Parts: sequence; structure tokens; C-alpha cells
Amino acid sequence: MRRKIVAGNWKMNNDLAQTELLITNLIKQLPSTDAGVMIAPTFPNLYKAFEALRENKIEVIAQNMHFAESGAYTGEVSAAMLKSVGIKTVILGHSERRAYFGEDDAILAKKVDAALKNDMTAMFCFGEELDDRKAGNHFSVVENQLKNALFHLNAEAWKNIILAYEPVWAIGTGETATPEQAQEMHEFVRKTIVEKYGQNVADNVSILYGGSVKPDNAKEIFSKPDVDGGLIGGASLKAEDFVEIIKAI
Ligand code: G3P
Repeated sequence: MRRKIVAGNWKMNNDLAQTELLITNLIKQLPSTDAGVMIAPTFPNLYKAFEALRENKIEVIAQNMHFAESGAYTGEVSAAMLKSVGIKTVILGHSERRAYFGEDDAILAKKVDAALKNDMTAMFCFGEELDDRKAGNHFSVVENQLKNALFHLNAEAWKNIILAYEPVWAIGTGETATPEQAQEMHEFVRKTIVEKYGQNVADNVSILYGGSVKPDNAKEIFSKPDVDGGLIGGASLKAEDFVEIIKAI
């Protein structure tokens, strides 16, 4: 049975004091839920967040990592360094990493391999640009992103993969994909996995939706059969909004 998950991608927001305040408010307001709840603070705040949430149900995850084990990669962070501060899950392939930092499918395949080699879970992001969708290429774009970065993995490896469909045109724009658009793409992705790996792998991989999820649209999006939760950006920066989205799962 695949997990329901609500994850907050804080992106480049919240200094140490703001991190501590948001976590304090999340702890106070967190509803009881069977879903996995995750937050992704920035690197400097990971350990403080991990310590603050050690006794709580919220998992602290990373927003990125390098594929090398160590070495001359100024400014980068390795899987082992993340694990040393309690991090077991890492977001990879976010569209902002692809757009601003030149992360292509080949680099992402190496990052996924490094995460799995270190017994981490990879939350792999993918999604089409608006032009792709307008041209009707969104399914082929997504299929290629998955095949180029993930389909070298064996079936066993997929127990440590979470997928996050984030149509780029919906990220930070307030232009949310409709629940039907989300379901259509999630269903396509699951069928693509069936063709490659079979029904069991496909049935057990969580596929999250990300892109302007808010308290007022979360319930309908999460109600779709192939939507297993959300990867939340802006709305995860306010405890009350993030909590309302968790209640919707
Ligand atoms: O990774 C989640 C993020 O890309 C979605 O951002 O602000 O549209 O919820 P937002």
C-alpha cells in the first residue's frame, strides 16, 4: 500500500529563528494523521529542525544534494553529510534546480543513484513547461524525464522512490493544475511504470502533486485516485495553511 504524503518545500526561505518559530507552530497545530508529513528547510537549518522534531511525526528532508561522496565541489552537500544530521529523504530534480542550476536528466540519474546507494529515499520531481502542454507534448516530456533519470533502476530500488509531478507552469503562479489534469498525468505516469516494472511497483509508488496547492484546493486534488499527496511550496511557509492542507489528505 503506497503512502499518503504531504511535504513542504521551503525553498530558500526562513533563517534559523524563523525556522524554529515555524516548527514550534507546526508542532502546536499538527493534526493527527496517518499521512507522512515532511518539511524541507534550507541546509543551514536542517540539523536544528531535525533535533526539534526528533520526537514528532514530521520528517525533515533535504531540498537537494550532490551525487559525489565528497571532494572539490564547493558549496555542495553529499548524501553522507545529510544522513549525518538525520536526513533520510531528499528532493531531487525540482524544476528550479533544472532551470537555474543546469540539472539535466543525466545529472539527476547520478543523484538518484547516490541517494539510493546511501539508503536514502529520493523524492523525484518532474513536470512539463507551459509550451510543452500547449503543444500537446506534456506526456512525452514527462515520460522522457522519468525514463532518462529513473528507468535504469531495478524494481527493488523503487521502494525508495517518491514521485512528485510539478507542472512548471503551476509552480508559484497560483495557476494550479485542475484536479482532472493532475489525475490524468498521475494515471499516465503510473501506467508508464506498469509497462516497465509491472503492477506491483506501480501500485506502491507514491505520486505527489505540486504546483500552487492551497488550503482551498487541496481536498479536491488529493481526492483523485492516483494523487497520493502534495509537495507544497508557498503554502508550507505558514503553519496554519500547511496544517489545513495536511487535514485535506
Ligand atoms: O516543490 C513545491 C513547489 O515547487 C510548489 O510551489 O508555491 O506553487 O506550492 P508552490
